[in-house]
Amino acid sequence: MTLKNKHILLGITGGIAAYKSAHLVRLLIKEGAVVKVVTTKAAEEFVTAKTLSVLSKNEVISDFFDANNNWNNHVALAEWADVMIIAPLTANTLSKFAAGACDNIVTACYLSARSKVFAAPAMDLDMYRHPSTKKNLTTLQEHGNSIIPAESGELASGLTGEGRMAEPEHIIEFIKKELAEKLPLSGKKVLVNAGPTYEAIDPVRFIGNRSSGKMGIAIAEAFSKLGAEVTLVLGPSTQHLKERSVTVIHVESTEEMFKACESLFHDTDIAVLSAAVADYRPKTVSGSKIKKKEGAFSLELIKTIDILETLGKQKNKQLLVGFALETNDIIEYAKAKIKKKNLDFIVANSAIEPDAGFGTDTNKITIIDKHNKITNFELKSKQEAANDIVAYALKTLHINA
Ligand code: CTP
Repeated sequence: MTLKNKHILLGITGGIAAYKSAHLVRLLIKEGAVVKVVTTKAAEEFVTAKTLSVLSKNEVISDFFDANNNWNNHVALAEWADVMIIAPLTANTLSKFAAGACDNIVTACYLSARSKVFAAPAMDLDMYRHPSTKKNLTTLQEHGNSIIPAESGELASGLTGEGRMAEPEHIIEFIKKELAEKLPLSGKKVLVNAGPTYEAIDPVRFIGNRSSGKMGIAIAEAFSKLGAEVTLVLGPSTQHLKERSVTVIHVESTEEMFKACESLFHDTDIAVLSAAVADYRPKTVSGSKIKKKEGAFSLELIKTIDILETLGKQKNKQLLVGFALETNDIIEYAKAKIKKKNLDFIVANSAIEPDAGFGTDTNKITIIDKHNKITNFELKSKQEAANDIVAYALKTLHINA
C-alpha cells in the first residue's frame, strides 16, 4: 500500500512526544503524501509551528481563526483528508475524543473526519494503564478508529514501561499495513492504457481519433480504489483523474505508448489495454509544415506496432485484457482478437450504438473470455462499466472483493 499523493491530516496534541511528530511529517513527505498539520495550543510548547510548516510544506493550523481573523474551516480540512493521524494522542485529548468534546481545532477536525483515523497514544506508564484510559481507547476503537499501540521504554518521567508514542517509522508501517489489509488488490500492479494516439504528419498536423480516454481512466481509478498500484499510460486526453494514487504517464504516438507499456509489462499483474491506438501512421513525418499545392494530396501510411498483440506474445503470468470497438459482427471479431492477441478476456463494445463508445459518459459492454463465454452488461455509466470489468478480472484471478 502506498501513501503516495494521499492527503494526510496530522493532529498533534501536547505531550513531550510531539517532538517526534516533526520526524513523522518528514517521513510522510518522503512517502509522497501531502501533509497538513493541526495542533492544539499545548502542542506548540513542544514543537514549533515553523518546523512543522517547513517540513509539511503547508501552513500549520492551531486555532479556529488565523492571525488575520480568518476562519479555519475544520470541516473542509477533515473532508480534504484521506487519512487522519493523531500523534501523539495525550490522555486529555483521548478523553475528549471518547466523550465527543469539541474545544479546539484538533477535536473539531476529529469529530468532522470522514476518513479513517489512526491515533498513537503517548503518556506516562500509570496513565496509560489507568482503567479510564483503557476504557477511552476501547471507545475510540468501537467508533472505528485504529489505535497504534504505545511502545515500551524509558519515559519522560524517568519511569520505564509502556506509554511511549510508537516510533514514527512504526506508525507509518502500521498505517500502510492496515490500509492494505482491507483492500483486495493491495500488492498488485496494474497497467492500463487509454485515450487516442496522435501520429504526426508534420509539426502542426496529426492523424488521431475521437477517443476521450474516459473508459480507461475509469478502469484505472476502479483498480486503484481496490488497492492496486496502477500506472495509466494515457494518450492525448483532456480528462482529469480524481484518484490521486494512479501514476499517469502521458504519451502522444503509438510508438511512445508502446515503449511505456512494454517497459512496465514484465512487472505487471494485470494489464488492461483500452487505448484507441492508431493502426496506421504516416511513413515519413515532414520536418516543416507541408504547404498547400494545386490538385490532390496523398499520404503514404504504414502500420503501427500492435501494442496488445506484442505484449500478448511476451505474456507469462499477467492477466491480459483487450478491448474491441466494432461497428458490426462484434462478437465474432472480438473472439478472433482474443486468439490473435493471446488475451484472457476482451471487452467488446459498439461504435455505433447510442450512448456507447467514444466520447460518451456511458457504455454498453460485452465481456468474452478465452473459453468464448459471453457476458452481456446493461448500458451504464463508464464508472459502473469499469467496476464490472474490474470485478470480472478479480473473478478470473479468484480474488474475493
Ligand atoms: N491495439 C493495440 N495496438 C494497435 C491496435 C490496437 O494495442 N496498434 C489494441 C487496442 O488497444 C484494443 C485491441 O487492440 O485493446 C483491439 O483494438 P481494435 O482497434 O478494436 O482492433 P484492431 O486490432 O486495431 O483491429 P481492427 O481495427 O481491424 O478492428
